[in-house]
Amino acid sequence: GTTLGASAAEKGRYFGTAVAASRLSDSAYTTILNREFNQVTPENEMKIDATEPQQNQFSYGNADRIVAHARANGMQVRGHTLAWHAQQPGWMQNMSGTALRNAMLNHITQVATHFRGQVAWWDVVNEAFADGGSGGRRDSNLQRTGNDWIEAAFRAADAADPNAQLCYNDYNTDNWTDAKTQGVYRMVQDFKQRGVPIDCVGFQSHFTGGSNYPPNYRTTLSSFAALGVDVHITELDIRNAPADAYRNVTNDCLAVPRCKGITVWGIRDSDSWRSGESPLLFNGSGQKKAAYDAVLAALNSG
Ligand code: G3I
Repeated sequence: GTTLGASAAEKGRYFGTAVAASRLSDSAYTTILNREFNQVTPENEMKIDATEPQQNQFSYGNADRIVAHARANGMQVRGHTLAWHAQQPGWMQNMSGTALRNAMLNHITQVATHFRGQVAWWDVVNEAFADGGSGGRRDSNLQRTGNDWIEAAFRAADAADPNAQLCYNDYNTDNWTDAKTQGVYRMVQDFKQRGVPIDCVGFQSHFTGGSNYPPNYRTTLSSFAALGVDVHITELDIRNAPADAYRNVTNDCLAVPRCKGITVWGIRDSDSWRSGESPLLFNGSGQKKAAYDAVLAALNSG
């Protein structure tokens, strides 16, 4: 293939990017988007504060615009995200207990129903585990509603859209020996054993390069896959975009049959949440960087 998406497709994968609705009017941006990518994740437009800014008043305009663009251009959509401790609207930040649990479940039901049939994968729950050595859950208002909030979220999403693939998504879960990685692994193992409807795990993969890209990343991906879930690289960016690191990440995904695809967290460096680190595949002028060539070559090798 001559583009990321077409080359990934030849390997039975997708290659996607985060998309911002505000940039869909930028033709330099959409030219690259439409040429290179066959999957999109709305960067902010499906978050709780965007879709339910007032309780029970849902707002889908920007998310719908991204979904329409994706469908018109044959791109699959990853929904991001139904339940998260961050980017909560003010009304939700101030809730707790049973009222918050019910508001979360209602949010999941409403949003997953709205996008039923249009979202291939949902990040049902995002970033629920703590950093550091505990291997346990992150404290949050959602966690304080009871440890079963994550499985309740997955069951609600499954009921609303039985055909979507339901993922747990997190960061700093890349090094197989880290306590956080092991904590998520044990949760997924437990969910599979008890029949909680989880289909996939997303590895955000916001790397700083060097030692932040662990040599055992492939082991992490394959170990989760062995639990019977698909794995996805969901928000890839790497400080200074070293071509070697991008090549290795691509090869690690290709080496794991259940690694379904890679999503980079933006198109041009100027589109990135960490634009000061130039972490993406295209520079601010939309030109391909060395990392782009490395990824394309890896997708086309073997
Ligand atoms: O759109 C408003 C603008 O109107 C306002 O003037 C401005 C002032 O603050 O804010 C703008 O919204 C910002 C939004 O990005 C769009 O640019 C928010 O403040 C800002 O918080 C938001 O940041 C996003 C961040 O998630 C929020 O948590 C980033 O774009 C987005 O890349 C980032 O993505 C997260 C994933 O969802 C989860 N994993 C980590 C990843 C990176 O942090």
